Amino acid sequence: MPLTASLLLLLMAMAARPGVAKLLYDQIEVTWGGDHSFYYMEQPGVDVLALCLEETNGGSGFASKDAYLFGRFDIDIMLVANNSAGTVATFYLLPDEVPWQYHDEIDLEFLGNATGEPYTLHTNIFVDGAGGREQQFRLWFDPTTDFHTYSIEWNPKHIIILVDGTPVRAYKNHGVPFPTWQRMRLHGTLWNADEWATQGGRVKTDWTRAPFYAYYRNLRVTPCVPSPGVAWCGDEPPESAWFERRLDKAALKEAQEKHMIYDYCVDEKRFKEKGLPKECTTE
Ligand SMILES: *[C@@H]1O[C@H](CO)[C@@H](O)[C@H](O)[C@H]1NC(C)=O
Ligand SMILES: *[C@@H]1O[C@H](CO)[C@@H](O)[C@H](O)[C@H]1NC(C)=O
Repeated sequence: MPLTASLLLLLMAMAARPGVAKLLYDQIEVTWGGDHSFYYMEQPGVDVLALCLEETNGGSGFASKDAYLFGRFDIDIMLVANNSAGTVATFYLLPDEVPWQYHDEIDLEFLGNATGEPYTLHTNIFVDGAGGREQQFRLWFDPTTDFHTYSIEWNPKHIIILVDGTPVRAYKNHGVPFPTWQRMRLHGTLWNADEWATQGGRVKTDWTRAPFYAYYRNLRVTPCVPSPGVAWCGDEPPESAWFERRLDKAALKEAQEKHMIYDYCVDEKRFKEKGLPKECTTE
């Protein structure tokens, strides 16, 4: 075989190599606290970003280089170990700077706790500048000793939040405020929120334990796929049931029964005057 032909074949084989995850380093940018956060190689082809929180230098964070309109986003996170009270690690989708009335956000926040006490996964969804859609979960494992996978599935019909593949939250677009038109970037941060995060702000960050680290790796972005014959997800006809198949309703129900500790949709006291938000009362 002529040299050029075999070289070409080799190059094609390399380009088509399946299953090689992208390096986090190539997908994101450290946007905040870059002088005290760092990357390391965990194994060939897998790099980890260690976000750091210190008392004087503060926290740190990253943003994805690309912005997306719909998609499935998976990331592995290992949270601050031992006494993590006061610390908050996050993973969220947010558009680039827009006026507040266009502020959309899909937000996961991991609220640290005293050693041995459980972490809380706090979630919220903002649309057109309005949030107040909090649901909270007790993680059913120790999130500090191993990496676990946290995911956001965002298609025109649903926002689904999953923990290790189990759906814990679903927000359905049935004529309620829903993010449908602007690209969002993925962010991760680690910061100090001891005025409110842990046991309502009663337990403060113990700076003698600093620096604190939260570890991120394996960011996987999977584009949204529409039903056959439809050009892109935003064109999926309203009557289509295509995206219904993306949600395991039985698994969601079970996870919520077992692990949900707060749900704005049943907080009658909070919404006594205005009534529950529309998405809480529409099937
Ligand atoms: C957490 O505590 C264990 C046991 O005391 C210790 O081995 C480990 O180094 C601590 N981890 C951190 C991040 O401080
Ligand atoms: C921390 O632990 C306490 C006691 O188990 C629990 O009430 C609380 O919800 C936990 N999480 C946070 C973020 O405070």
